[in-house]
Amino acid sequence: MDRAKICDVLYLVLADTYALMLKTQNYHWNVRGENFASIHAMTEVQYTELFAAVDEIAERIRALGGPVAGTFSGFSRTTGLSEADYQKTAMEMVKDLADSNRHLATELGKHLEEVDDEDDIGTEDLLTQRLRLHDKVAWMWQMYVTPDGAFSLPEAPKKKKK
Ligand SMILES: [Fe+2]
Repeated sequence: MDRAKICDVLYLVLADTYALMLKTQNYHWNVRGENFASIHAMTEVQYTELFAAVDEIAERIRALGGPVAGTFSGFSRTTGLSEADYQKTAMEMVKDLADSNRHLATELGKHLEEVDDEDDIGTEDLLTQRLRLHDKVAWMWQMYVTPDGAFSLPEAPKKKKK
């Protein structure tokens, strides 16, 4: 098991998760308009979940023996997530949160492939849980943006030939 490599991957996840927590809390504070109450409440549930998640991710790095260089400037340099913009409309915030959660789910899928050969079930489990969470939250925000659009499922993956 290449612990340094796993810690590097986990640090990327930590930075993205921290950035999403701040963005979610920013929108909790600044959202306005007719959906204020529901968005204000939903963002609170999510930044609370993300706060617990950053602790879990950082302590996984420590459990593997790595340091956690957790600073605002470090996270800001490391994350690929755009910063919050408090002047967005409520629906622009919702769209941003849907896109940001989807971005994290996509990144987590890549990270899972990166650590696939490391035989670290604990980390794979953590990354899988995070992926599933961001998939779910992306769906929840997406339902604000397209509440009555037609269902369209992505094309089913083709079966691998044996
Ligand atoms: Fe609050």
